[in-house]
Amino acid sequence: MQPTPRHLLSAADLSAAETSLLLDCAARLKRRPQRLLEGRQLALLFEKPSLRTRVSFQVAMRHLGGETIYLAPQEVGLGEREAIKDVARVLGRYVDIVAVRTYGQEIVEEYAGYSTIPVINALTNEEHPCQALADLLTVREKLGADLRGVSLAFIGDGNNVSASLVVTAASLGMDVRMASPKGYMLPESVVSEAAARAAAQGGKLTLVVDPVEAVTAAQVLYTDVWTSMGQERESERRRIDFAGYQLNRELVAKAASGALVMHDLPAHRGEEITDEVIESPQSIVFDQAENRVWAQAAAVAFLLGLAGQIDG
Ligand code: CP
Repeated sequence: MQPTPRHLLSAADLSAAETSLLLDCAARLKRRPQRLLEGRQLALLFEKPSLRTRVSFQVAMRHLGGETIYLAPQEVGLGEREAIKDVARVLGRYVDIVAVRTYGQEIVEEYAGYSTIPVINALTNEEHPCQALADLLTVREKLGADLRGVSLAFIGDGNNVSASLVVTAASLGMDVRMASPKGYMLPESVVSEAAARAAAQGGKLTLVVDPVEAVTAAQVLYTDVWTSMGQERESERRRIDFAGYQLNRELVAKAASGALVMHDLPAHRGEEITDEVIESPQSIVFDQAENRVWAQAAAVAFLLGLAGQIDG
């Protein structure tokens, strides 16, 4: 009988200890890439466009000696041309691990339920765990490996990026603050998960409406688009509702001196963040993008049970 595969569908699928371990592995692989995955294949089953996630998985697999097969949005028709459970069982016969970028979280969960190989959430409407791991790897590089008590303020939508980020940051014992307009807060399930993790690790989760309250003296500032993929019809409404939530020079001035500025990209410059702030010396957005490679390399190794073989 095949062992049940380990999946990464949500930031909450990793315990706090596993989150730290995975970030340690990512840092080690970045220092010294190792050919752990010779002969292993990763399928990238993508139903939405991507620059960073697709390329960083492909580069990560090359660094580790493995290969990738990219399946573009028009190719598979997950749940339309073919039942999700059939796609999952077929791909499991060809490759060793799969990263799925899709719409609802229930799609990737259904897929994983039938998969005989590990499944990684490469973005759903509700979660983006790979992004959060790369983000916290980047913060560790800048501020040290122990992030307990470090203050991180997310300004904006309670979306997939912020959901995975607050759970991952809470797992590391950070002082997590989130400012969103009313009606755009994180789902209650995410709040309770993050709050429980923060409490267990000596950290904190604070949800506010006022962005100034969130950023005051914060060491790390993070924002994301006001309108995510698939919400384009809401963009006019959102531009109105998020007015006042722009990460600009005035808001950055309220944070700690030299506060790090983060964005997962792509950015809508002039909406959630100004061109000036994203181009400022405090901005670490391209370090985040680079670290997608190493966070995902570590995630693949971890899910394939190879984390213990990473040297360094
Ligand atoms: N940040 C991110 O996931 O970028 P892509 O949508 O380009 O993959």
